[in-house]
Amino acid sequence: MSSTAATSSTILCTIFIFLAIFSNSNDALTAYQVLEEYDLPVGLLPKGVTSYELDSSTGEFTVYLNETCTFTIEGYKLKYKTQITGVISKDALKDLSGVQVKILFFWLNLQEVTRDGDELIFSVGIASADFPLSNFAQSPQCGCGFDCAVNLIETVTSFNSFN
Ligand SMILES: *[C@@H]1O[C@H](CO)[C@@H](O)[C@H](O)[C@H]1NC(C)=O
Repeated sequence: MSSTAATSSTILCTIFIFLAIFSNSNDALTAYQVLEEYDLPVGLLPKGVTSYELDSSTGEFTVYLNETCTFTIEGYKLKYKTQITGVISKDALKDLSGVQVKILFFWLNLQEVTRDGDELIFSVGIASADFPLSNFAQSPQCGCGFDCAVNLIETVTSFNSFN
């Protein structure tokens, strides 16, 4: 092999390595795709994520939403602030801040979400609740949450019942 050929193949290699690094950068993924990378469902984040930061070495993340988001899941009211922080690892979100759940009359900070097979366990420290993973297959919409279409049908039905 001539030295010119060797040099150009070195240059090509370098270019490929750079391309590989850039195509693996987190900026290419959406926040929802990052959840999936860690084996978590996209429904843990509501619609309306504008951007996020992730330190992939520690798992520390910050997610920004376009509005404060409130919705109900299986009787629990959840509130997402416009800035959510925590630590992501495979099957878990820990040290969360910015997500609250209403229990009785109190808004408590959601501290952890962990996945155990087909279940998601939401923990507020003193208490926890399990939900089927399948509930979180899609991102909830702020306001109507997971059953926007269902709510619409219920609204129409209740309007009809006035007639
Ligand atoms: C935030 O984003 C969601 C989803 O893209 C959209 O439906 C909603 O209208 C937005 N809210 C505001 C206040 O812009």
